[in-house]
Amino acid sequence: MSKEGVSEEEIQKLVAEIQGSPKYRGIDLPTETLLDIIALESIHHKKIKDIKQAVKKKIHNIVAPYLGDPDYEQAEIELQTAFQQGEAAIKEFCKRMLNVHASTRERLPIMEKFYEQLFSATGQPNSILDLACGLNPFVLPWMGIPVSTQYFAYDLHHPRVNLINAFFRSVNREENAFYQDILVQPPEIEADVAFFFKEAHRFDQRQRGCNRAFWLSLPVKKIAVSLPTTSLTGKHDKMEQHQRLVYDAIQDLNWSVQEIVLSSEILFILQKAV
Ligand SMILES: C[S@@+](CC[C@H](N)C(=O)[O-])C[C@H]1O[C@@H](n2cnc3c(N)ncnc32)[C@H](O)[C@@H]1O
Repeated sequence: MSKEGVSEEEIQKLVAEIQGSPKYRGIDLPTETLLDIIALESIHHKKIKDIKQAVKKKIHNIVAPYLGDPDYEQAEIELQTAFQQGEAAIKEFCKRMLNVHASTRERLPIMEKFYEQLFSATGQPNSILDLACGLNPFVLPWMGIPVSTQYFAYDLHHPRVNLINAFFRSVNREENAFYQDILVQPPEIEADVAFFFKEAHRFDQRQRGCNRAFWLSLPVKKIAVSLPTTSLTGKHDKMEQHQRLVYDAIQDLNWSVQEIVLSSEILFILQKAV
């Protein structure tokens, strides 16, 4: 992939520089993600200096380190200790994980109600895809689903995926957390419902209008998309903007939509046309 004005060597150098930078070294950012964004930014910029600046801005938004992270090595140790202590300790550990990241922290006070309402709209699923999952799989003890319900989680943050697989192991689930850029390589596993929480607006910033093709590609009949109702600071109302994002993406598709507002999040239950 060599764009006019930018050599293959410059592209490889930029990939290595971002992957090895102190900010992203621990995350093991997928090469496919960086190549995808470099290719997109090469359409708008010709000089490597400008491409680099634009790519860094996009990566910052995709990884969103400002939303919070645990110390992953320490968390794996704590998980093992909790596992030896039993169920109550595992639940305490999960709450600590959910509390570290802004997306799950905001959902924490209403997590049981959130899934009750979601499943009353979708029906109780036998299989779930949790897309761009973040730390959301740690909500499993409160989700109200049996261990027989298959749960597939996807994220491009490698230590996060490893920790989730360690957790799945400890609660007798299959290690079905995948380190994958779902925009470059959408999941192919069929499921009853897909969760896509608090990420569609970032997908749209990464690649304007990409949600439509992404949602169409998913091998599920129902997609539970959630978006925040306000900005991260809580100062700006985002309701209308985020409703527009969803309805524009599914325009002319004849899908049904049910909206559920839960605290600072709006949930759109999208049902694909049969
Ligand atoms: C804002 S957090 C939301 C986490 C979770 N969905 C929730 O609401 O609790 C976004 C997560 O998506 C992941 N992510 C962003 N883009 C992705 C992509 N293209 N493929 C896989 N994961 C992605 C990030 O690493 C991060 O963990």
